[in-house]
Amino acid sequence: MAESKKIILTGDRPTGKLHVGHYVGSLRQRVELQNSGEYDEIYIMIADAQALTDNADNPEKVRQNIIEVALDYLSCGLDPAKSTLFIQSQVPELTEMSFYYMNLVTVSRLQRNPTVKNEIKLRNFEASIPVGFFTYPISQAADITAFQATTVPVGDDQLPMIEQTREIVRSFNHIYDEVLTEPEALIPQNESCRRLPGIDGNAKMSKSLANCIYLSDTPEDVRKKIMSMFTDPNHIRVSDPGRVEGNPVFTYLDAFCRREHFEKFWPEYQNLDELKAHYMRGGLGDVKVKKFLNEVMQAELEPIRERRRIYEKDIPEVYRILQEGSIRAEKKAAVTLARMKAAMKINYFDDQELIAAQALKYGEE
Ligand code: TRP
Repeated sequence: MAESKKIILTGDRPTGKLHVGHYVGSLRQRVELQNSGEYDEIYIMIADAQALTDNADNPEKVRQNIIEVALDYLSCGLDPAKSTLFIQSQVPELTEMSFYYMNLVTVSRLQRNPTVKNEIKLRNFEASIPVGFFTYPISQAADITAFQATTVPVGDDQLPMIEQTREIVRSFNHIYDEVLTEPEALIPQNESCRRLPGIDGNAKMSKSLANCIYLSDTPEDVRKKIMSMFTDPNHIRVSDPGRVEGNPVFTYLDAFCRREHFEKFWPEYQNLDELKAHYMRGGLGDVKVKKFLNEVMQAELEPIRERRRIYEKDIPEVYRILQEGSIRAEKKAAVTLARMKAAMKINYFDDQELIAAQALKYGEE
């Protein structure tokens, strides 16, 4: 039977350091959920096997980034005493589940997945998509269902993956037995958090565009990046009225700034609405707004840097955390897989009834 516990599973591909887009898009929420005490089990996965689906020729990159992502997780406040942090490839049950789920999904269904479509375009894969990459939504369904996750906190680009997972769950439960749990996605309410642009105003932060602010950036790096941010190109003189929509400085403020930041750093304004109104009226320069954004972001990032400094001093301990987490994760996945195999009737040696019935059949002849 599906469980009635509240369980979280989510993860990231280790293809680079995590940036502030990951933070407001998902990481910050994961930490809040973890600390809410409302969840019975929390699994946070470093998806190295998925990262290899489009980096098969570069395993070293994936390997190097595992520790980066782990440090980013820990420094954001994911706590190994409350959340199981683990590495996908170390839970082989996930691969086995994927193999059976492949029978429940059609090629045309995968071809319709908007995220995969988009990623194929981004990678110029059109004519040469690795089969593993094409089928990663299926492996992602295994990641989620192995833990009987009820809740998957992710960025909104991952919604098609959760939908695919739900279809697989319904199909499995319908054909075999009610073993799997249908998960729900949880995305941030605030739209600016879901779509944090790059510092150049590009819709997406990406390493190749060199427009990211990383969680591991130094205070000076962060300050420089903020001061160089793209703003409203028509806001030339201070007295000109400015636009806040599509202005990354204000999108970042939407995502990061809280009322208390005004009290602390800019008491001339009560809140963001007042600041925006002034900017739109004209008479407020970009440099002032950027300086404020810098104060706000430094305040948010400093505790993250502080925790990172502690974990960086004991890297073997970080690997131990991942190893222990992987062992715990595998135990859980093994329970689900055993139930799946029983439902699929591929548990031959556990099934005394089957053995007795076959013996009887041949005994009768
Ligand atoms: N696809 C996710 C990403 O690109 C990583 C991921 C793998 C994941 N398996 C998952 C996320 C399961 C949530 C649930 O970062």
